[in-house]
Amino acid sequence: MCGIVGYIGNQKASPILINGLIRLEYRGYDSAGISTIEDNGLSLMKDKGRVKNLYHLEGIDDLTGTIGIAHTRWATHGKPAKENSHPHMDNSQTFSVVHNGIIENYHELRNFLTQNGYTFYSQTDTEVIPNLVHYYYQKDENHDELRFLRAVKNACGDLKGSYAIEIICKDYPNIMIVTRKDSPLVIGKGENENYISSDIPAILSFTRNFYLLDDLEFAILTREAVSFYDKDLNPTSKETKTIEWNSASAEKEGFEDFMLKEIYEQPTAIRETIGAKFNESTKCEFDELNFTKDYLSSINKIYIVACGTAMHAGLVGKNVIEKLCKITTEVDVASEFRYRDPLVDEKTLCIFISQSGETADTIAALKLCKEKGSKTLAISNVIGSSITREADYSIYTHAGPEIAVASTKAYTSQVILITILAIYFAEILEMDSQMINTLKKDIMELPKKIEETLKLSEVIQDFSKKAYQEKDIFFLGRGVDETVAREGSLKLKEISYIHSESYPAGELKHGPIALIENDITVVSILTDSNLVEKMVSNIQEVITRGAKTLVITNQNIDKNMFDMTIQIPKTNSFISPILSIVPLQLFAYYISKEKGLDVDKPRNLAKSVTVE
Ligand code: M6R
Repeated sequence: MCGIVGYIGNQKASPILINGLIRLEYRGYDSAGISTIEDNGLSLMKDKGRVKNLYHLEGIDDLTGTIGIAHTRWATHGKPAKENSHPHMDNSQTFSVVHNGIIENYHELRNFLTQNGYTFYSQTDTEVIPNLVHYYYQKDENHDELRFLRAVKNACGDLKGSYAIEIICKDYPNIMIVTRKDSPLVIGKGENENYISSDIPAILSFTRNFYLLDDLEFAILTREAVSFYDKDLNPTSKETKTIEWNSASAEKEGFEDFMLKEIYEQPTAIRETIGAKFNESTKCEFDELNFTKDYLSSINKIYIVACGTAMHAGLVGKNVIEKLCKITTEVDVASEFRYRDPLVDEKTLCIFISQSGETADTIAALKLCKEKGSKTLAISNVIGSSITREADYSIYTHAGPEIAVASTKAYTSQVILITILAIYFAEILEMDSQMINTLKKDIMELPKKIEETLKLSEVIQDFSKKAYQEKDIFFLGRGVDETVAREGSLKLKEISYIHSESYPAGELKHGPIALIENDITVVSILTDSNLVEKMVSNIQEVITRGAKTLVITNQNIDKNMFDMTIQIPKTNSFISPILSIVPLQLFAYYISKEKGLDVDKPRNLAKSVTVE
């Protein structure tokens, strides 16, 4: 949450900063601002609203500074307002700071600083940072070139909570300092210029070479170099990582919205994620993993922990792991898991799924499992993300950058990767080889079947035109289709703001059916041949009570019963969620478009949730 960008080089900083913020807007979009070092000191331009508002601020075109910091905000402390926007300065206007995260002890620090003569102009937690840096700076009698860094280090020593911080100082016009704790931040290395960003895609058009800063490390950026220091300010060294994503992958490339582009990228994302993991005659391999039969036989439980859509991918994973590997698997929401004292020990394998790899709740749950002695395995889409650096093992989806807040290609890539992981476990454990081989064959055919499913887009768009004015929409499914119902419902409410619930179809008559009234839309997913009759009966129950029905199915059922049936290709039941979610993603997308909403940046949401 909140996006931060920084630039130091020989070009005018302000257009680069604003351009970077626009690309990072999916991290937050209630206010934005920039600060540069000009000949006469620090500039500060900020306002409530979208990043593009910055272009209209008086004086923005006159900025000529070649070093600057910038921020797009997702409000935590203090409502969206100009005074709460970042950057924030200290009272003497010596330091300018942008911050992503939450300073938990800001009340205490604010009181301390107030007693020491400082005044506060915002309701934010962030404003304590520049003032605290100033407090230590003016106390330091050693005016050498590290005075600025020492002040930042001392201030950070007082902070509790999470932060990624960029800071510039008018007395040091040729450097920028950054540091982080439990909040993402990457440094992009250019030729005689360097960049900062919360996420890689924002600066991908400038460089593909990145330094990944560790927790509690500091970096000083000059135009020519980046130097690193540990928490005690001992110099350290770091190599750059080259990221394979190309800059076009972070552009819309002719699509109206990132979400639509990402829905259509799913066949490629799945192909790339399957990669060279297996073919029908060889065993599934993960270079990054070295699990043995002894270890896998010794574990008595797998936990899959994640948030939102990633958690829904985990639910699909539970089905395949339990059936293929015969290991009990529990799925939990990360923010609940860590507070319920889970029974985790060395006989538990804990798997964490996160597209961004930066979700605070998921990272905290991972740390807890490590403390409790279990092995931890991260599944992420972002190489070098925090979660992958914390986990014992990491494997990657190859979905490319996902920019739209609503996750689509990341979800289907997570589902395929966890399915392949289950095959890897099952082969080591020498489980039912026929079942494994059939699944492998079906996986190879999947990308083509997604392409076929995408061809249904027009029909779904037509149905969306009939449904976009609804107040409530219900989603039903049984078995693995129930996990798809949950994901379909989340997608819809997230980008259309229509109230939506999903239920296991058999649960309806235990309460929720009371909500079904004339003309309400009920979407059902029906792909499990063993459950056709039961599912059709449940759909009949809502039709009898006046519901309009949309059915997504790969079964041969009587279509006359329903208002609309979307026939998707048949596939292995383990991976059917990858096909059945596609019409639901399109359904949510077209409803949002019909309503004239901002599909990629739905209200109140941010792409990666880096606060707990
Ligand atoms: O980056 P992560 O996969 O950890 O994000 C988890 C959730 O915040 C995310 O899936 C969220 O639910 C999506 N916006 C749903 O579309």
